[in-house]
Amino acid sequence: MRKTLLFSIIFCDILLISCISNNNNTVFQYDKQILADSAMVVTAHPLASDVGIEILKSGGNAVDAAIAVQFALAVVYPRAGNIGGGGFLVLRKKDGHAATLDFREKAPKASFRDMYLDSLGNVIEEKSRFGHLSVGIPGVVDGMIEAHERYGKLNNFADLVAPAINLAQNGFSLTFQEAAILNKFHADFEKYNTKENIFIKNKQWKKGDKLIQTDLAKTLKQIQAKGRDGFYKGTVAKQLLAEMNRGNGIFKQDDLDTYRSKWREPLIEAYKNYKIISMPPPSSGGIALVQMLKTVEDYPIKDWGHHSTQTTHLMVEAERRAYADRATHLGDSDFWEVPRTSLLDKSYIKTRMSSFDPSKATSSDSIQAGIITNKESEETTHFSIVDEEGNAVAVTTTLNSNFGSKVLVGEAGFFLNNEMDDFSAKPGVPNQFDLVGAEANAIEPEKRMLSSMTPTIFTKDDKLFMVVGSPGGSTIITSVFQVFLNVAEHDMSMKDAIHNLRFHHQWLPNKVFIEEGALSETVITDLEAMGHIVEIRKPIGRVEGILIQENGIIEGAADNRGDDDAEGY
Ligand code: GLY
Repeated sequence: MRKTLLFSIIFCDILLISCISNNNNTVFQYDKQILADSAMVVTAHPLASDVGIEILKSGGNAVDAAIAVQFALAVVYPRAGNIGGGGFLVLRKKDGHAATLDFREKAPKASFRDMYLDSLGNVIEEKSRFGHLSVGIPGVVDGMIEAHERYGKLNNFADLVAPAINLAQNGFSLTFQEAAILNKFHADFEKYNTKENIFIKNKQWKKGDKLIQTDLAKTLKQIQAKGRDGFYKGTVAKQLLAEMNRGNGIFKQDDLDTYRSKWREPLIEAYKNYKIISMPPPSSGGIALVQMLKTVEDYPIKDWGHHSTQTTHLMVEAERRAYADRATHLGDSDFWEVPRTSLLDKSYIKTRMSSFDPSKATSSDSIQAGIITNKESEETTHFSIVDEEGNAVAVTTTLNSNFGSKVLVGEAGFFLNNEMDDFSAKPGVPNQFDLVGAEANAIEPEKRMLSSMTPTIFTKDDKLFMVVGSPGGSTIITSVFQVFLNVAEHDMSMKDAIHNLRFHHQWLPNKVFIEEGALSETVITDLEAMGHIVEIRKPIGRVEGILIQENGIIEGAADNRGDDDAEGY
């Protein structure tokens, strides 16, 4: 009872902030960098960061705060924060114990390898990307309950859902970015939904509009009252299956009954005197990140300088090789034998670099591995948390595309993922649209689709150093790679490391993608002379990071590419 009251007060505070800020012509106050003594929360939305901080202040630990943030993001950041998708959680407790939780979506039992091919064997792109057939079995609710059961400190799970219910029920003000994105996808919401809902009804959103999600509040109350059964059974499950039936989806009650998140053996590897704690398969992020770091650690990139020709060329070549391996060797390790030890072996990584020429780009054709697609979606979300005791949590979750499949479960108020598109629709064989992939990531019933999400915790000399992660599809891994090196090798603050412009190479297509201004004209000219193809693209990643400075001060930094916000005390 006391807690419920507490959350009402928190909520009033939140509303007040948005009301006051509205008068100043900005919806929220964003803190892109915070220095604090005790604890930190960095998320994609100020309201979610506030929720995390309040949980920590009320005695919760980093896992409790992560759960409350995840539910809050499902309300205030519906394009990617979710209960209809999946994700990964990486935990390092203050005593050094590490754990990784996989709550990635699974393919429905009725799914099959060629389900997105037409009669001629060509991929029907729309089928895996939009609508009911693109949906994997959601894992977030099970993941949050599992994390709480094993590592939560606050006894009452209901208290962790309460702030999200308040936000859904009473509404919150939309930022400019959120209003714009809701408008952008309006036609899709109309196309892929049969039931009228708030996202269809309101045709033109603007900054400061209040978004009230009554149906979602009811769903969250079911989860609050009944835990797992509040989502995977009963009213919400019925609504979910009714939605599937309306749109010819293929999953059944049995898929919901048997969904379980999984504790995986954390990926723990070294880079110089740093330890990398990251996500193993079905994420490709941990393995690829470690491969890239182990590749560059033998070269003097600190002396070469940040974003110099030599450093950029080396990092690009490390990325090229890691992504080539990813395409062939990585998939759900419950279904595919991932050669994890070999891929991470230093002598193997050195062998991969035997073709490295410091003065010339390696041709991607000469790197032998499978074929990777460039169709991964980039709309995911990450948050980083450190609590007063020094426990750290990194969580990345996703619906895949913005608003996932665009299907909102009628009456239950939440969007469903389109994660099936992260499988290789047609393994091994490139089709006319270049939609190709590898056997390791072929569709199989109950298999998890390969992900690039890379929630990661670094230690330095066995002490907590950095908590980091990003959205961005295939660019997630290279974003984390660069941000870590910016700090570890180029002595940047967390904020500078994150705000710095980025580049990305993923083997195929054979291009160095850069954010505009990331590299100087001289470096671009040098790289082109070496045979690299450089192309400017939209922003890369949205990193949320926490750095523990030598003096113990905690630096939280939120990406300046969006509405992201750091809060600490
Ligand atoms: N859906 C994006 C990822 O999991 O990598």
